[in-house]
Order: sequence, then C-alpha cells, then structure tokens
Amino acid sequence: MDKFRICGGRALHGTVKISGAKNSALPAMAAALLTDEPVTLHNIPKVRDIITMGRLLAFMSATVSTPEFPAESYTIESKSLNDAVAPYELVKTMRASILTLGPAIARSGVAHVSLPGGCAIGARPVDLHLAALEKMGAQIATEHGYIQARVPNGGGLKGAHIVFEKITVTGTENILMAAALAEGVTILENAAREPEITDLIHLLRKMGADIQGDDTSILRIRGVSKLHGAVHGVIPDRIEAGTFLVAGAITGGEITVANCQPAHLGAVLTKLETTGVHVDTVNPCTLRVHAAKKLVASDVTTEEYPGFATDMQAQYMALATQAEGTSVITETIFENRFLHASEMIRMGANLSVDGRRAVVRGPAHLSGTTVQASDLRASAGLVLAALVAEGETVIDRVYHIDRGYEGIVEKLQDLGADIERLHFPTS
Ligand code: UD1
Repeated sequence: MDKFRICGGRALHGTVKISGAKNSALPAMAAALLTDEPVTLHNIPKVRDIITMGRLLAFMSATVSTPEFPAESYTIESKSLNDAVAPYELVKTMRASILTLGPAIARSGVAHVSLPGGCAIGARPVDLHLAALEKMGAQIATEHGYIQARVPNGGGLKGAHIVFEKITVTGTENILMAAALAEGVTILENAAREPEITDLIHLLRKMGADIQGDDTSILRIRGVSKLHGAVHGVIPDRIEAGTFLVAGAITGGEITVANCQPAHLGAVLTKLETTGVHVDTVNPCTLRVHAAKKLVASDVTTEEYPGFATDMQAQYMALATQAEGTSVITETIFENRFLHASEMIRMGANLSVDGRRAVVRGPAHLSGTTVQASDLRASAGLVLAALVAEGETVIDRVYHIDRGYEGIVEKLQDLGADIERLHFPTS
C-alpha cells in the first residue's frame, strides 16, 4: 500500500514525455485474440492495467512476450483459444477485462468472462455489450458471477444492425472487434468516437479488417473469415497530457508536453484558454503551457468525445479551486464521480456537490493533509491539488494512480516537484 508525500508550492518547469495511451493499449492487446498470428504493439505504457491485461491474455492461452518487463513493446500470439475464461481475480482489478469478451466469442464461438462489478465512480453495467452480442447471434447467460457467451450449434457470429442506446467506449470496441470476424455486415450506430476507437480501427485494418466510418458515430464493418498479425504503435495518452497541462497551469510554471497529440486535446485546450492559461503548439506533437496571469473560473460539463472528457474532470476541479470566481462542474457520464471533492474540501477547497453538479469557489488556500485516492483520475486530481497546497500532503491508496499513470512520481520530480513515493510493504 504505497503512498505519495507531496510538498506543494513549487512552480513546475521542464519537459515531460507523454506515454502511450492505456485506453488504446488495452483494446489493442485484446484485439490480438482475434488472430493466431503474432501482433506486436509499441508505445505501451508501463502501468499496472497493462500488466493485468497481459496476465489475463496469458490465462486465455495467449503467449505474451516482452523484451523486458514492464516493457514498451509487447508481442501477443494467440495460436489457439480454448474455452477461454477471464477469471474474477483478474477482472475485479480492471473493468477493461470485458474487452476480451468480443474477440474471444468471435474467434472461438464461446467465452467466459467474469462480470465486472460496480466501481467507486458508478454501477458501470455492461448490458449494452451483451445486448449487441445477442443481436449478433450469441446466447448469453450470466450465472455465478460469470458471463457465459456461446454461439449455438458451433456457428459463428453474424453481422447485425446495432444502435447503442447510450454511447459506450469499451462497448463500441468490443463489438467492433467481434464484428471484424463475424459473417456479413455490422452497422454500429451511436458508436463512441474517442481517438482510442479510431486507433483500434487502424490496428484492426492492419490485421485485415474491413471497417468504414473512422471518427464518426456510424461504423460499418464487413466481417472477414480470418485476421492476420500486425505491428502497431498506440497513440499518446491524451489524459496524461491533459493532466500535465493542468500541472503547469496550477503551479504557475511552464511545462513542455512532448510526444502528445494536440488534435486529441481540443476540449481541454479550449477550456484552459478560457481560464486564462496559454498553451502554445510548439510542433505537431508538442505543447507548451504557460502560467496564467490570473486563473479565471469557468464552467465545464463532461461529455463524450469530442467534448470535455470525464477522465479530466477531477484534474479540472483541482484547477478550479485556484481560479477566481465560481466554476460549475457538471458530470454527465458517471453517476458518482466526485469522490475527490470531499478530499479537496479537507485540503481547504471551497466547493459543494449536489448530485451531478459541483460548485467550486476560488481561489482557495489549500493546505496539506492526509487524503485518500478513490479511483484513477481522482488520484490525479489530488496530486494536482497537493502540488499547490501549502505544506505536506500524503495521498493514500495510490495503487489507483499506478493503474494508469506511468512513472508519475519520476516525471513530476523531473519537473521540479517535491514528491516521493513512500513504500509500505504489505505483510
Ligand atoms: C471508458 C474508459 C474510461 C472513461 C469512459 C468514459 C477505457 C478502458 N475506459 O470506460 O477511462 O472514463 O470510457 O469516457 O477505455 N454504460 C451502460 N451500459 C453499458 C456500458 C456503459 O449503461 O453496457 C454506461 C456507463 O455506466 C457510463 C456510460 O455508459 O455511465 C459510459 O460508459 P463507457 O463509455 O462504457 O465507459 P467504459 O468503456 O467503461
């Protein structure tokens, strides 16, 4: 149970290199289950969720090889996929394990994946994934905590016209992968448009899939009988990039954010400009954030891409505590994603939460104390708050942040932050 100790008050300066996107790497790894040939992936972030996905794929009889561990490159070879089981012990630590369902049933006609439970930020059902697979001909039962999916009579999935009731990122990815090997044409309407979906389409196309509709909410997939191996580098992590942009802004420093994809950060950049933060595009993959003369409050509503990402909401809340005026933050994607708010209040933030709306009044004088991380992005919000708080903050349960931020302590230290990891070995 590691903790972070952070002494706030230092302006951050320097260059940070953004890692590959966890949320692109996870579906890309799952996509390797669709073929018996090797799939090599580069720019994989060294984070815990990737290790979990690697273990899960190995459990499902894939060979997962890396030059060193953890690594930036993985080769995954899934020669055969027998009655694949994704066990609860692995699934419970990472909801994205559900991404193995679509590829497994498409490839072998049968899949058993533990039902992901709810998580701190909301119930997060997978009903839309299951309904879509049923439309494609799968019979699905949920028994003893497991999803048992099977195509009857030893057949394969069939293309279908699927209209998602709600936009779902991993749901779109699961069905894209399943449809790539299904017989006939699948149309996905109201599909998610996140850059991670487009990245998955690029990989699937390299593997031989026939997909049209990149970056739109209507995807048309003509299934093929076999997919082959491929080599693919995943896109940079837009949420990590956004987090470091806020780190520069909140500490009044100047940070060069290298190896990012500015086009994926549109809503965040627009919001930062509105709050008085200036961000320059240095070159097509580098941004530089400058301290604002004065941070000004601004409302934000989380939305599906290309709107403002729910995964940046906690970080924005930290920034809003330092902005002059009142910022109303509305969370529309998850029903319980303000767990960081009560911890920020303990640090001195002037904010209140009413259902899906948080009202933040600033600027507030934050002071260090002991706080608990509740989920991945909430942890990032607390780190940012701690970077401006007076004195020492200890953040407990940082295993949440280790799930998705590669080397965050080292990256912040390189920018001049006073941060260290405190190790508490579990007995
Ligand atoms: C993905 C991201 C996560 C991000 C989220 C929203 C990955 C691995 N994770 O999560 O970081 O915060 O998108 O951008 O890419 N829903 C249903 N039924 C379903 C599926 C979803 O009701 O079958 C609801 C969810 O409870 C939620 C909303 O739809 O309220 C969006 O969820 P979804 O896009 O599916 O999130 P994830 O794919 O789990």
